Amino acid sequence: MERTFLMVKPDGVQRDLVGEIVGRFEKKGYQLVGAKLMKITPELAEQHYGEHKERPFFGELVDFITSGPVFAMVWEGENVISTSRLLVGATNPTESAPGTIRGDFAVTVGKNIIHGSDSPESAVREIGLFFKEEELVSYDKSMKNWII
Ligand code: TYD
Ligand code: MG
Repeated sequence: MERTFLMVKPDGVQRDLVGEIVGRFEKKGYQLVGAKLMKITPELAEQHYGEHKERPFFGELVDFITSGPVFAMVWEGENVISTSRLLVGATNPTESAPGTIRGDFAVTVGKNIIHGSDSPESAVREIGLFFKEEELVSYDKSMKNWII
């Protein structure tokens, strides 16, 4: 089953959007397999956003993502990598459609609420940067006897 890395950025945590965002992925039909609230170190931020190292916004991006807590998550499900990018919406909130997370909650590209892996390779890399294997939990929701 496919897995992706999603992360509520410091602006989303500050604006109390963690529950709303988790709820959207739950209701869509995906399964949460790992999550934690954490502060990102500058070293981790630079690794995570390494592909943007030469871009003019890189310094601001690292400062922003390390400015407060983030809510890091791993989600599992069919086509979760590409479909969760659709739920997240376009990078620039001036272009993200209403109904998407960025389209509903964000105004500027620098503060666009949520990160989502953009490919299977990015998903594996980013999950490995943020989570240890033992922090991820596989479980079958159809096995209802675990709640009684
Ligand atoms: P990118 O990987 O292009 O977008 P996405 O988050 O949709 O995968 O860029 C990473 C983050 O960098 C983006 O979410 C916000 C920030 N950013 C800027 O601040 N200015 C920009 O012009 C771009 C393209 C991104
Ligand atoms: Mg990206």
